[in-house]
Amino acid sequence: MNDSPAARKGLGADPYERRWMIVSLVLLIAFMVTVTIAGFALGFQVPGDESRVDPRTVADSPPWSEPGLRDLGNGEYVAYVLSRQYLYDPNTITVPVGATVTFYVTSTDVQHGFKLQDTNVNMQVVPGEVSKLTVEFDEPGEYKYICNEFCGIGHAAMFGRVIVEAEAGGS
Ligand code: CUA
Repeated sequence: MNDSPAARKGLGADPYERRWMIVSLVLLIAFMVTVTIAGFALGFQVPGDESRVDPRTVADSPPWSEPGLRDLGNGEYVAYVLSRQYLYDPNTITVPVGATVTFYVTSTDVQHGFKLQDTNVNMQVVPGEVSKLTVEFDEPGEYKYICNEFCGIGHAAMFGRVIVEAEAGGS
């Protein structure tokens, strides 16, 4: 430690302290920059806590009583997905390439996950809440959605898929 008056110039802080303050500031700025880039340039989204539902009755009340895809026109879709031990309803969603799909996912029992491979969709699915994220499918192919929160003995078998068709059509 250097407590000489010369060392306490500037902020009046110890040189070590001053160094750590500078490091903290640089880190803060770096985090702000990365969050800004992720949010605005890379399109990262935070899963929205869209609404609250009663997990005991949600499967019987619209729109969840008919889970699945809705075509809003102009390539816009919404998909209502119910999660339960150990499946997703629906477990297959088919859209044409270029489709923009907003997923609304909720659980009827315990906490699940909803990770859509090869996209930046990765949500916790908490009973009582609706998780919402939007993704645009620019490439045809099959995108599996998997449960990535341990939810019981059948957890590893819990998955579904989005089929993105090269030709317009879909269902
Ligand atoms: Cu559902 Cu793990």
